[in-house]
Amino acid sequence: MHPLISLSALLGLAGSSHALALDKAAALADCLSKASVPVDAPGSADYKLDVSSFNLRLNYTPVAVVGVNTTKQIQDAVSCARQLGLKANAKCGGHSYASFGLGGEDGHLVIEMSRMNKVVLDNDTGIATVEGGARLGHLAVELYTQGNRAISHGTCPGVGVGGHVLHGGYGVSSHTHGLAVDWLVGATVVLANSTVVNCSETENRDLFWALRGAGGSMGIVTEFRFKTFQPPENLTTFIASVQWPTETRALVGVKAVQEFAQTMPAELNMRLFISRDFVNLEGLYYGDKAGLQAALAPLLKITNATLAYAQTGTWLDQLKHFGGGTNLDQGHGHVEHETFYSTSLYTHALDDSQLQNFVSYWFTQAKANKRDWYVQIDLHGGNNSAVAAAPADSTSYAHRDYLLMYLMYDRVDNGVTYPADGRSLMENFASNTTQGMAKADWGMYVNYPDSGLDQADAQANYWGSNLPRLQAIKKAVDPDDLFHYPQGILPA
Ligand SMILES: Cc1cc2nc3c(=O)[nH]c(=O)nc-3n(C[C@H](O)[C@H](O)[C@H](O)COP(=O)(O)OP(=O)(O)OC[C@H]3O[C@@H](n4cnc5c(N)ncnc54)[C@H](O)[C@@H]3O)c2cc1C
Ligand SMILES: *[C@@H]1O[C@H](CO)[C@@H](O)[C@H](O)[C@H]1NC(C)=O
Ligand SMILES: *[C@@H]1O[C@H](CO)[C@@H](O)[C@H](O)[C@H]1NC(C)=O
Ligand SMILES: *[C@@H]1O[C@H](CO)[C@@H](O)[C@H](O)[C@H]1NC(C)=O
Ligand SMILES: *[C@@H]1O[C@H](CO)[C@@H](O)[C@H](O)[C@H]1NC(C)=O
Ligand SMILES: *[C@@H]1O[C@H](CO)[C@@H](O)[C@H](O)[C@H]1NC(C)=O
Ligand SMILES: *[C@@H]1O[C@H](CO)[C@@H](O)[C@H](O)[C@H]1NC(C)=O
Ligand SMILES: *[C@@H]1O[C@H](CO)[C@@H](O)[C@H](O)[C@H]1NC(C)=O
Ligand SMILES: *[C@@H]1O[C@H](CO)[C@@H](O)[C@H](O)[C@H]1NC(C)=O
Repeated sequence: MHPLISLSALLGLAGSSHALALDKAAALADCLSKASVPVDAPGSADYKLDVSSFNLRLNYTPVAVVGVNTTKQIQDAVSCARQLGLKANAKCGGHSYASFGLGGEDGHLVIEMSRMNKVVLDNDTGIATVEGGARLGHLAVELYTQGNRAISHGTCPGVGVGGHVLHGGYGVSSHTHGLAVDWLVGATVVLANSTVVNCSETENRDLFWALRGAGGSMGIVTEFRFKTFQPPENLTTFIASVQWPTETRALVGVKAVQEFAQTMPAELNMRLFISRDFVNLEGLYYGDKAGLQAALAPLLKITNATLAYAQTGTWLDQLKHFGGGTNLDQGHGHVEHETFYSTSLYTHALDDSQLQNFVSYWFTQAKANKRDWYVQIDLHGGNNSAVAAAPADSTSYAHRDYLLMYLMYDRVDNGVTYPADGRSLMENFASNTTQGMAKADWGMYVNYPDSGLDQADAQANYWGSNLPRLQAIKKAVDPDDLFHYPQGILPA
């Protein structure tokens, strides 16, 4: 028991839990202050940034936020949380759909990492050393300007490297170059007992495996080490617009897309974007426009799609295109919000009756809903996918072998309250699609979490067959579940 816990805190067990919480907060403040860990004071401009979640539907109040700038401060913050029996989480880009960077519930100690965002490329080895609070856009710009290098990763420049990489990281280069996590070769981690360890394929291998898919539950990464590739001189971004006015044509169209995905060339990265008003095929081709046209021709013909936009440019040009015009180089203090409910799915190619269920729900239930929903289906696997090429258990990212990855996202304008019964729109989209499927034939992506899941379902859906090994590793590195969040890995 920590000496700073007051008697009234102990007695508080019999009294109000509010008094106990207040005393713990005071004891925590004292502990952090004694260790000189910088705290972002409630009411300060930094604190407001820290607690402003990406998803305005899910707001949580931490017991405290520390704005760390050194590994030692992280160790001390973790130590204070441990002594007081509090939960602690790293927050990197703060872009979790379920506000996991804030702990996903009230009362956690939030370790705000975004001041630690240095990126250093070693030109000789091509290895990049990246601090644990960097964002994707900053990483990409630094790698490119320091030495014309890159890794594959998601599209939004404000997303944190921390949350993104540690839970997979799928993007418009992933069919060609794999997940973001596939570029990770080593990491430095603060564990729950405050010790700092390195891990890689040759050192603390279990931890390294667990980090690469379930990192948020295992420790706080202070430094990532990535191998990198040299991006090609010319890449082509594209949008093909699809006209499927009827259910029958949509069924034929989606079927053609998933068949194409099985064998499409490695150079092609593509997703099917379905909204209430339009449907697009969009993506990135590693090559020029002529190459793209040749690669896409067979699919455009069967799906009645037309290439509406194709633009050849550099690596930075494609980052800007997919970044939607946001400044790429985002640091501490970047804010961005939406108000939404989302869920996700992975499936193999849908058979005819599953396709029928998917399309029926889309054309009846979903189209009838006037909110701004979309379903984005990434062509994730297939014979030429670098994601699928690695064995399913090579990292703790469990769902490599699925052909399709769906993000099902339903939003309202900021300032509008998301309806209390809104969540069923996308949940039913998913459950109508998976009806009749064996549990082992679908999964969900922890970086596209469904905030409505309980912890048991979340663990099973996100980590599938890798779950038992993850729970065993969790028990070894964090037996008291210090790095708890409501959908994280529980110790075995
Ligand atoms: C606009 C937008 C676009 C997106 N696009 C894509 C996409 O194209 N592809 C894709 O795969 N995903 C995408 N995502 C999802 C994104 O990958 C996840 O939300 C990701 O977890 C966000 O990471 P973060 O660091 O910003 O979030 P945070 O909320 O800061 O953290 C998320 C989780 O990671 C943990 N964590 C963060 N940093 C560390 C660290 N250093 N050490 C240990 N644990 C850490 C946190 O504790 C928390 O559990 C997108 C999200 C948004 C909002
Ligand atoms: C973080 O620490 C570095 C030195 O390690 C220092 O240069 C920098 O100014 C510090 N940043 C903040 C925000 O304290
Ligand atoms: C790294 O290599 C790039 C060329 O690829 C060069 O422009 C840059 O100056 C080099 N940086 C250092 C620090 O050597
Ligand atoms: C981890 O590895 C880095 C880079 O090789 C090294 O500088 C650091 O001292 C190592 N830390 C530990 C705790 O082994
Ligand atoms: C890239 O495009 C430019 C301009 O069209 C062209 O000159 C160059 O040869 C291309 N590079 C490669 C590697 O194809
Ligand atoms: C494409 O168009 C043809 C002729 O208009 C039509 O028969 C076919 O069903 C369409 N296919 C799709 C997938 O829309
Ligand atoms: C794709 O892979 C499957 C097995 O995974 C194989 O049966 C099929 O022949 C392959 N198709 C092509 C075109 O390579
Ligand atoms: C399909 O969606 C409807 C709502 O449109 C819902 O009532 C039904 O329960 C869903 N079916 C399954 C199997 O999830
Ligand atoms: C900290 O935890 C790790 C992982 O369980 C363990 O290997 C190490 O011995 C612990 N260190 C201390 C000082 O207890």
